[in-house]
Amino acid sequence: MLAAREILVAEERGRIVAMMGVTPCLDRALWLGQARTHPDFRRQGYAQRLVEAARARVRRERRPALRLWTSERNLAAQRLAESTGFRRIAVFTRRVARTRRAPSGLRTSRRAAEALRLWRRSLFCRQGGGHIAYQRHFLPLTQNVLKKMAARNELLVGQDIAVVLWTQEERRTAFASVLAGGQRGLTAARRAAGERGYAAVQTFLPRDPRIVRWAREAGFIKGSWGTRAVLYERRV
Ligand SMILES: CC(C)(COP(=O)(O)OP(=O)(O)OC[C@H]1O[C@@H](n2cnc3c(N)ncnc32)[C@H](O)[C@@H]1OP(=O)(O)O)[C@@H](O)C(=O)NCCC(=O)NCCS
Repeated sequence: MLAAREILVAEERGRIVAMMGVTPCLDRALWLGQARTHPDFRRQGYAQRLVEAARARVRRERRPALRLWTSERNLAAQRLAESTGFRRIAVFTRRVARTRRAPSGLRTSRRAAEALRLWRRSLFCRQGGGHIAYQRHFLPLTQNVLKKMAARNELLVGQDIAVVLWTQEERRTAFASVLAGGQRGLTAARRAAGERGYAAVQTFLPRDPRIVRWAREAGFIKGSWGTRAVLYERRV
C-alpha cells in the first residue's frame, strides 16, 4: 500500500547537503517528509529551495497541494513551513492501544456518502481541520477519497460510528482513523483491529481535550512519538 517515495536532494560541489522525501497521497497531493539539511549548511536556504522544487512539480503535474507535518517542538521546521507559504491545519496526537477480543459491531461498508455525513458532523472532523491520517500522511477526507478507501474494504461502520482501518507493511499493527462515534468509535476501532487479527492499533487524533479524554477512556495511551504533530498544507 505504500506509495512510491522519491527523494529530492540539493548538492554543493558534488556533495549532497540537503534532502526531502516526496510521496504522492491518495488525493494526488504531495507529502513532504524526511527534510534534512547537513548542520554545516543550515540557514542557507537549501530546505526552502527543495520546497520550491516540490511546489514546481505540484504545479507541473496539476496536483492539489503540498502537505507536511512536524513536531510542535520543532520550531525550525515550523518556521520553514510558514516561511514557504504553508498553512497550519491542526495538531494531532498519536495514541496506541492493544486490541481487544470483543465484537466491534462494525461491518465493512461501501456507503461512503453516509460515512462522510457522519464525519462532517463530528468533533474529529472539526478539530482535525477536515483532515485524517491515512497511510503515512494526512489528507482532506472527501467522498472520492473515502470511496477509494471503501473499495479497499477499509471503511467500517456501525450505529453512528465510522472508522477507516488500514495497515502498513508491518503485520501486527493496524491503523485507524475514527470518523464518527466519539469514545464508542474508538472502542470499536480497537475491537475491529482485534477482529482482523492485529495485536495493536494506532491512531492520530485531533489534539482536542474531549477527544483525548475519549481515547483515554477507550484504553488508548500516548505513543512513544508523534504526540504533538502539526499538520501543514500549501494549496496550489
Ligand atoms: C528544518 C531544516 C530541514 C531546515 O533546513 P535549512 O536548509 O536550514 O532551512 P532554510 O535555510 O531553507 O530555512 C528557511 C527558513 O526556515 C526558517 N528556519 C530554518 N531553520 C530555522 C531555525 N533553526 N530557527 C528558526 N527558523 C528557522 C527560517 O525562516 C528560514 O529562513 P531565514 O534563514 O531566511 O530566516 C533543518 O534545520 C534540519 O535538517 N533540521 C533537523 C531535521 C528536522 O528537524 N527536519 C524536519 C522534520 S519535519
